[in-house]
Amino acid sequence: MTDTNSTTNTTSTSSTTTPTALVTGATRGIGRETAARLAALGWTVWVGARDSEAGEKTAAEIAAEHPSADVRSVLLDVTDDGSVAAAADTVRAAGTGLDALVNNAGVAGRLVAPEETTAADFVQVYGTNVLGPVRVTNAFLPLLRDSAAPRLVMVSSGVGSFAVTTDPDRVESTLVGLPYPSSKAALNMITTMYAKALPGVRVSAVDPGYTATDLNGHSGPQSVAEGAEAIVTACSAETVPGPFFDRHGVLPLVTRPLRPRPTGRGPGGRGPGGTARSFKPAHQSRRPKL
Ligand SMILES: NC(=O)c1ccc[n+]([C@@H]2O[C@H](COP(=O)([O-])OP(=O)(O)OC[C@H]3O[C@@H](n4cnc5c(N)ncnc54)[C@H](OP(=O)(O)O)[C@@H]3O)[C@@H](O)[C@H]2O)c1
Repeated sequence: MTDTNSTTNTTSTSSTTTPTALVTGATRGIGRETAARLAALGWTVWVGARDSEAGEKTAAEIAAEHPSADVRSVLLDVTDDGSVAAAADTVRAAGTGLDALVNNAGVAGRLVAPEETTAADFVQVYGTNVLGPVRVTNAFLPLLRDSAAPRLVMVSSGVGSFAVTTDPDRVESTLVGLPYPSSKAALNMITTMYAKALPGVRVSAVDPGYTATDLNGHSGPQSVAEGAEAIVTACSAETVPGPFFDRHGVLPLVTRPLRPRPTGRGPGGRGPGGTARSFKPAHQSRRPKL
């Protein structure tokens, strides 16, 4: 293992015309499968790993499975400013460009009853699942913006949706815990804000679905192939079902409003002083449909 940012270039290609993706937390589970699926599609793939040895091993394995693919590893701990900045420098210096950034790295944390959960239980979960994607997005956005079709993909969860977790027909409604679900709810909000703020970047939150991985002791009914499906769609499809989706289609971020919302045109849409209550950033109307 080395302590510097490392790359493994498993083919002779140093600059490509094929699209390039970086997947954080790509040494195991859904992230690894996503990296392999994109490699199979002919993408140049950066395997983000917080352990350089594991990253190089994963990149080599994927390259062996897909001999024509360009698979590289980059040291990247999403909780570490220096590591993330160095990873962005590495990708920039390699000249691959970046078309899809997949913020996949995530942790479940301790699953205990809400009344036994402490503030400390939130630290690692929020640090990885919420602050990690923000840190990584900040660092890679300049590279992403140079792409002709930039895609920012947040690997969220159905347990981050108020609508899904309150639907008794959904398995997600059976999970009762504080840090992990609320971290994914925060990530969903962050995703919708990036979508408003980044015209020209297609921003998606995706739910892999309940998938057998180390994260849940392999209790999920889905395979990692199924779990990676929506993420691969978010990276590579011409169009996506919506801002938040799983492999079956669009997912609701919130519950349906219980009463009609003010339209902004009549008296109901005005604040006490007669001023409009909603603010729509000017760029929203110019945003291209991606
Ligand atoms: N499995 C499910 O049912 C399910 C459902 C919905 C959403 N998700 C989401 O899907 C994503 C992937 O989960 P998974 O099930 O594939 O989990 P997993 O098998 O436990 O893999 C998690 C990956 O994240 C990496 N990681 C953790 N902390 C990191 C950090 N600080 N910096 C960089 N990488 C880090 C791990 O690297 P190490 O090997 O170094 O630990 C590992 O590669 C997560 O965001 C998770 O919340 C999963």
